[in-house]
Amino acid sequence: MISLGLEGTAHTFGCGIVNEKGEILSNEKSSYIAPLGKGIIPTDAAEHHSKVKEEILRRSLEKADITMRDIDVIAYSAGPGLAPCLLVTANFAEKISTDYNKPLVPVHHGVGHIEIGRLTTGAKDPIIVYLSGGHTAIIGYTEGYYKIFGETENITLGNVVDMLAREIGLSSPGGPYIEKLALKGNFVELPYTVKGCDLSFSGTLTAAINKLKRGIPKEDICYSVQETCFSMVVEVTERALAHTGKNEVLLVGGVAANKRLQNMFDVMVGERGGKLYVVPHEYSGDQGAMISWVGLLSYKSGWSSNLKDKINPRWRIDEIKINWF
Ligand code: ATP
Ligand code: FE2
Repeated sequence: MISLGLEGTAHTFGCGIVNEKGEILSNEKSSYIAPLGKGIIPTDAAEHHSKVKEEILRRSLEKADITMRDIDVIAYSAGPGLAPCLLVTANFAEKISTDYNKPLVPVHHGVGHIEIGRLTTGAKDPIIVYLSGGHTAIIGYTEGYYKIFGETENITLGNVVDMLAREIGLSSPGGPYIEKLALKGNFVELPYTVKGCDLSFSGTLTAAINKLKRGIPKEDICYSVQETCFSMVVEVTERALAHTGKNEVLLVGGVAANKRLQNMFDVMVGERGGKLYVVPHEYSGDQGAMISWVGLLSYKSGWSSNLKDKINPRWRIDEIKINWF
């Protein structure tokens, strides 16, 4: 069985092809770059996806050395995400599914990040730390669902680094720039807010921006934001591990690429005698292989969707029945 998956919830349009053994045959993508100092403009990102979709599909098939006839199931990212982007992707998926008469499976983008993480690292039953543009969530599998043990009460960690980068005048996504600047910084105190397993970053970001405006060097701000926010995430993850008795941690989502974050997790998990898994860099951001893989898992396990429409910009991860775990 071969699955073709289309990703297009936000900045990236991707097409990945995966077989039943979990071999990734291709994973082509193209990303919209936001204007300097600005966030994503949803209609511009959607226009980008519209322009590149045929070409990305063609390249993905070519790389996998197959044609549409060899595909058994078509999956697409149905949410959560930016509505204009989701629509371009869903309509394109629907069109090729009709044209080639293939079953169509909507996939939750976040489940995609988790399952590509499990596939590429071999983590079995981890506490998943999903850190991205749209999510900051501490997740674990229980009784048929990916349950959220803790999440952000306001902005995500991805928002923090992107908004800070914008404030400094850097382009979005800002994470890699912040990481680089942080290497040369010293620590300044910033608000640290955790409540049980939940997190709050907005006070930290506001304080950081105020300090930046008062002339504290940007390197110090970047370093301190990373140290403070990452410590908060590590603390709540440790609580989730203690609570569930699980001993694996899997870092997924774009922010998982951050080396300092990985290092802090390595220390915490190591001290507990557990094991840390980090999704490989090429699968940490958005791409089609993750959608393709979940599409295949869902389809094989007698998938049924609770989606009323073809997209759901606010689809929550804990609504999805996980039949294949
Ligand atoms: P979601 O998966 O919730 O829908 P998304 O798809 O927009 O959100 P991803 O592509 O998974 O998110 O991640 C993008 C985020 O990762 C951005 O906020 C970006 O700044 C951040 N990021 C990327 N690389 C790094 C890094 N090295 N350090 C910190 N953050 C990073
Ligand atoms: Fe994502």
